[in-house]
Parts: sequence; C-alpha cells; structure tokens
Amino acid sequence: MLRRTLYGLLLAAPLLPGGLACGDNNENGCEPLSPQTAGLIELEADGSLPWNPSCEPCPRHPEGGVMLRCSAQRVPFGGAVLICEYATCLHDGRRPEGLREASVLDPGSELGALFAKTAWLEAASVPAFLRLAEELQAHGAPEVLVKAARRSAGDEVRHTRAMQALARRHGATMPEVDLPPFEPRSLEEMLRENAVEGCVRETFGAFVAGWQGRTARDPEARSTLRAITRDEVRHAELAWAVDAWAQERLSEVQRERLHQARRDALRLLGEEVEGHQPPEVLMNEAGLPSREQARTLFQGLSALTA
Ligand SMILES: [Fe+2]
Ligand SMILES: [Fe+2]
Repeated sequence: MLRRTLYGLLLAAPLLPGGLACGDNNENGCEPLSPQTAGLIELEADGSLPWNPSCEPCPRHPEGGVMLRCSAQRVPFGGAVLICEYATCLHDGRRPEGLREASVLDPGSELGALFAKTAWLEAASVPAFLRLAEELQAHGAPEVLVKAARRSAGDEVRHTRAMQALARRHGATMPEVDLPPFEPRSLEEMLRENAVEGCVRETFGAFVAGWQGRTARDPEARSTLRAITRDEVRHAELAWAVDAWAQERLSEVQRERLHQARRDALRLLGEEVEGHQPPEVLMNEAGLPSREQARTLFQGLSALTA
C-alpha cells in the first residue's frame, strides 16, 4: 500500500524540474535554526517595544528553512531590533531521542547547507535504528524486524556518506551529531517514537526523497536521492510493521494513546506543510517540492495513515 501510494504520487511529479514545512517543535521532527537579526525597528510612541511587529524585514535564512516568528528586542543604545526565528525539517529521517541541534557552520551555499543538514540527519538515524534493533530484540519481536532495523542502520551509514559527498561538492561540511546516552524506556515509549518518527516523519521523508529523486536538476543529487528513496521506503515499511506487531502487546488505552500520537504528529506535519516555501534554488537543483506539491504528498500520507 505504501509503495502504491508513493508511486502514484510520483506520477504527479514533473519529470524535470520541479518544502516542506516546519514548526518549532524538535520533538516532532523539526529543529530550530540560528535566529537572524533583521535590523533596527521603531519603538512605540510611549517608548515600549512593539508587541506584534511585522516580520517582513526578516531575511531568508542562509540554511533555508521557514521563518516561524519574529519579535522586538531592546538594544543597549536605546532602540530595538527585530529578531527572526526559523526552523527546518527538510528531508526528515528518524531522529533519535535527545538529538541536540546543530548548525552548518560554513554552508557555502543554500544547496551545500541543505545537503550538509541532510547528511547530519542521516547520520543521526544510525543510532536511532541501532537502538530500535536492540529494543525490538529485548521485547521479543520477530527476528525479521530486528534484522531489518540493523540493516536500516547500515543503510543510513551509506546515506550519510552519499549526502556528505554532495555537501562537500557544494562547499559545506556536515555538523557533528551530538547525542546523550540513551536511557532504558518502556515498550510504549519506543512505539510512540516509532509512530511519530517512523510512521509519520520517515514515511513522509521517503515521499519527499522520491520526489527529489525525480525532479532534482542536479544529476548527482537526483541519482543519490533515487538510491536513498529505495531504502527509505523500506524504513517506512519497517515502521509500519513494528506498529502492527506491537498492537496486541498493548492495552486498549495504550493503543489509543499511540494512535493519538500519530494523529498529533500528522496534524503538526500538515501545519508545517502549510507554512513553508523553500528557496527557488532548492526546488530546482535539489528537487524539493513546492508548498503545493508538498501538500499533495501530505494528502497521500494522510490517506495512508487514516
Ligand atoms: Fe536515510
Ligand atoms: Fe531512513
């Protein structure tokens, strides 16, 4: 069903060439980017800070992403500046619990920044899958699921190298993955992460990678993303297989909480899709879907998870 949905959606992709969207909630797969200052703004007539300033002067973030909000902040010499906040969740993968934010220090270009950040997400998915494999084994899951999780970790190592190569070609370096040691957790907590990061985020990531593999103008990016899509579809299928395996191990109340977590993650993703429009160069060269195209992909995912 997942493959049929994906291939059906990709039929809508223009052969050449073609956001995802983001919120501000790291727990749900997006991450904040460094804030940017838009310059001096005027205070209110009574000398107070404007509480709802226009965000129009906010610049585009050098790493892409979407602007979330802006606010006025006093500066020492008496005036105020506009501080703009951004986030990104492009090319979502399976983010491990506790993953600390990282910025591409020397992005080189918007394309370089995108590929470096994608490489970082791929690298972060390696420990996420190794942990999943260990936990599945500890909970007595079928060997086929344990092996699939281990194999997925190996896939993510390959994806990291491939995306790092693309980033380097565009003058950017992948940031380090900074992750605190994992603590033991319950089956339900593991499944909640699987529902949010796997059934929603990684499945959507597979759709986006598939779109990019079909529409990116950059031939190297296109072939890399095509190869990655094949693996990402399997990763998404693994998430759904884990979800199905776990159903009878949970009480009715736990099952309902799990479904609710998935519904919440889907709703947030939908809001993010409505809020983002990637820079032209990323749509053309890296094949990122426009907002309208991301909406179509999201509708496919919604139908799948209904
Ligand atoms: Fe990946
Ligand atoms: Fe993956």
